[in-house]
Amino acid sequence: MCGIVGYSGQKHPQKILLDGLKSLEYRGYDSSGIAFKNNTDVQIIKSVGKVTNLEEKLNHEKIIDCHIGIAHTRWATHGVPSEVNAHPHRVGNVTLVHNGILENSEEIKEMLIKKGVSFKSETDTEVICALINYYYEKDAMLAIYKAMQKMKGSYALGILFDDEDALYAVRKDSPLVIGILKGEYFIASDISAIINYTNKYILLDEGEIAKLGEDFLIMKNGKKIEKQILTANTDSELKDKCGYEHFMLKEIMEEPFVLEKTLTPYLENVKQFPNLLEYEEIHIIGCGSALYAGMIGKSLLEEKVGIKTFCDVASEYRYKNIIYDRKTLVILISQSGETADTIAAMRKANQKNIDTLAIVNVKTSTIARESKMKIFIEAGVEVAVATTKAYLLQVAVLSLMAYKSSLKKGIKDNVMKEFKDLPKLLRKILNNREEYRRIAEEIYKKENIFFIGRKIDYAICLEGSLKLKEVSYIHSEAYQAGELKHGTISLIEEGMPVFGIITDKDIKEKTISNIEEVKSRGAKIILITNEKIDKYDYELVVPKLNDYAQSILIVPVLQMIAYETALKRKCDIDKPKNLAKSVTVE
Ligand code: F6R
Repeated sequence: MCGIVGYSGQKHPQKILLDGLKSLEYRGYDSSGIAFKNNTDVQIIKSVGKVTNLEEKLNHEKIIDCHIGIAHTRWATHGVPSEVNAHPHRVGNVTLVHNGILENSEEIKEMLIKKGVSFKSETDTEVICALINYYYEKDAMLAIYKAMQKMKGSYALGILFDDEDALYAVRKDSPLVIGILKGEYFIASDISAIINYTNKYILLDEGEIAKLGEDFLIMKNGKKIEKQILTANTDSELKDKCGYEHFMLKEIMEEPFVLEKTLTPYLENVKQFPNLLEYEEIHIIGCGSALYAGMIGKSLLEEKVGIKTFCDVASEYRYKNIIYDRKTLVILISQSGETADTIAAMRKANQKNIDTLAIVNVKTSTIARESKMKIFIEAGVEVAVATTKAYLLQVAVLSLMAYKSSLKKGIKDNVMKEFKDLPKLLRKILNNREEYRRIAEEIYKKENIFFIGRKIDYAICLEGSLKLKEVSYIHSEAYQAGELKHGTISLIEEGMPVFGIITDKDIKEKTISNIEEVKSRGAKIILITNEKIDKYDYELVVPKLNDYAQSILIVPVLQMIAYETALKRKCDIDKPKNLAKSVTVE
């Protein structure tokens, strides 16, 4: 999703801003732009495509002397990816970059057109720019404040005023941090964009406006605010592929290590998990892979622990009429902690005084800050757009939490050792690259693929299918194995790959029957399981574990197959087209 970087200090901002944009590339974008400002001029340069295109353009321009600038990577929402629509936008005295969506853009635009303002782009950002300019009468803070009273939706803004020697920033429902060094200030969508310059930062909170120049000032509703300066860990992970060809592969290979780091404190001290048995009902909410991790959690909580559990897509849950008539816990799952829909779902529950628990990776994120309880996964920075290690840790935390809840219920089972052994087992599984390449060779030219399984295995199928389609662009569908014959089986044809997942011993025979149904119609079967069956084209067998920990060994196999397939298809694995790492708009 869009990325913002800004600088105000003593240096020329060009290198700082370009470095920042490159660090934000992982978020996904389709155009970029930069603005430099001094006392007399504002220079704006934009480009469609990669940041290297912008860099190339900058190399051919005479750049003005200055010490303030803003830059942006845009992921198109209002209007096609083009130079006109790319940020920064400029109207009158005001130049700005924006992350988020202005929901009442049309209404404000109409009002401004009536006042004689004309627009060049199709974007909501130009409308914000024109609105701030409309209110600007020599007091920048006041103009921003007045515009905020009119604006509905989400925004993080980096703003320049022609006659102000400062950079301004504001946010609502979209992340923004302020980096601080002696007399130098940075703004960024996330700390990774500026970590090479400073690890001291301030988290800008909802509705706060910052002035970053010779005066440093943060105001909210007309009052000056004192903020705490935080320190980020300097993180070489952000840049370094450690010799791997792609971040996705590096991040999969890190799984054994981050799994150990995340689970060890909980394996040592059960009390660190909230007591789920206090609740009559649990709602697990997330988007994409985070939701699929939640579905594994739901399956374990219901089947093994016996707690009534619902799982829903955050973008649906936020708008549904949810009846909270029993003691309910809402679990929010999010790697970034900034997914707009998941934030809205959390706020919905918080407003109704329902307990919220976040399973989150980014500790400084909105979800981490606003949820009542939190469990941090220790994935470190995940750069590849398609999540791998963070998803696995979400599953691992949910699985161990479910197991701990079953213990409190008095169910005796000696599975702790297997949880402790997981990193070692996982290392072995990840070493089987040859096997995954063999499967990739079989499927990489296909256009359609199915993943079938039942119950918890269906939840695993959903993630296997999502991973494959997002990085390899092969169309695939996850299906409940028993549901195929109610229509979808008509799509099965000679040679079509079908992945069958079987870990749940109770329904193993049922899934085998469904696999037989597609096999007899010509499908090529790739079975991923914990016990050899010895009758299918390909059988990948992982060590057999208890029901709680088993999926943690299956998912990395699917991630590796997706990776190897995308590699054979020469896809842009770390930054698949149209996708964004952190979906900060609805
Ligand atoms: C898929 C993927 C997405 C995210 C989803 C939620 O590989 O990465 O489906 O899982 O956008 O993101 P977070 O976890 O940051 O809320």
